[in-house]
Amino acid sequence: MAILNIVKDGDEILRKRSKEVQVPDEKINQLLEDMKDTLAKAGGVGLAAVQVGKLKRVIVIDTGETRLELINPKIIKTSGEQEELEGCLSCPGQWGITRRPMKVVVETLTREGKTVRYRGEELLAKAICHECDHLDGKLFYDNAVRMLTPEELEELEKAQ
Ligand code: NI
Repeated sequence: MAILNIVKDGDEILRKRSKEVQVPDEKINQLLEDMKDTLAKAGGVGLAAVQVGKLKRVIVIDTGETRLELINPKIIKTSGEQEELEGCLSCPGQWGITRRPMKVVVETLTREGKTVRYRGEELLAKAICHECDHLDGKLFYDNAVRMLTPEELEELEKAQ
């Protein structure tokens, strides 16, 4: 078990494209385990490997209801739309309203190297899109509908 350091906005690694995993191996398994520990400790919904300084196309998600591990994920289908509050473990104190698909289908490798598909709706769909964006060097605020005002941020902090 290891808690990894989460890279913060402003570090240029967050803008780099992560590389495909050739064959999931013991190193990738260890990375997934460490990322899960790190995500749980940070209390977030998702974490991409680049956020712990590894330019690999690897993601962990935990919505509270659903836990996913994604390796070389590709979003192959989207439908509908949602406008929701969004933030990022790499962007503390920044929150915005984003427009994301309501439903997605993502194709991914498992640890065993099998190709599988998962469906996600609502929060899970948003998380899959957010984390896949990280793999291409994008951050949630790049295409946010708008960012929260200081007053709204204050309200949000009170509510948490
Ligand atoms: Ni993020």
